[in-house]
Amino acid sequence: MLRKDQKELKEYISKEKIAKRVKKIAQKINKEYKGKKPIFIGILNGSFLFLADIIRELKIDCEIDFLKLSSYGDEKISSGKVKMLKDLNCEIEGRDIIVVEDIVDSGLSVIFIKKLIEIHKPASLRFVSLLFKKNVSNLDFKIDYIGFEIDNKFVVGYGLDYAQKYRNLNAIYVLKS
Ligand code: IMP
Ligand code: MG
Repeated sequence: MLRKDQKELKEYISKEKIAKRVKKIAQKINKEYKGKKPIFIGILNGSFLFLADIIRELKIDCEIDFLKLSSYGDEKISSGKVKMLKDLNCEIEGRDIIVVEDIVDSGLSVIFIKKLIEIHKPASLRFVSLLFKKNVSNLDFKIDYIGFEIDNKFVVGYGLDYAQKYRNLNAIYVLKS
């Protein structure tokens, strides 16, 4: 629920829709990773709620770890440079890795993450992203599980922020500028 004074936000994806989609994605992962114990790597900060909701729908065993990147600072447009702010703490070699992102926009972050993880020789590597901006260019691999494809809008809520604000909202909103 929004406060009355949050007039800059317009609901874009409801919490019910998100919950339904999260269940679907978890069901697929349950099937495709049956008998395996993947490591979910959440990309901080944006993916924390999505990751928490997905793994609570899983029937398989799993582990989690986090990687923190920064490319936006407090801006709405990517700086074009990805920096690592927190490295992984787990052993990747020989493991099934599932990277969990909040949103793929330019694709720079996932390209950076893919390179970083492949160096450590995982048994397999897949990507989940809650949101995928359709304008994405130059991704030469696919995002395996996508929550919603969205237009080129700046969105907040359900983990996503603008200048660190709005992550606690339980639906996704367009930020009117
Ligand atoms: P990319 O590297 O351009 O694909 O951007 C990925 C990261 O930028 C995401 O993990 C988000 O943290 C952030 N980001 C991109 N688009 C949005 C948006 O619409 N709202 C909030 N954060 C965004
Ligand atoms: Mg992010």
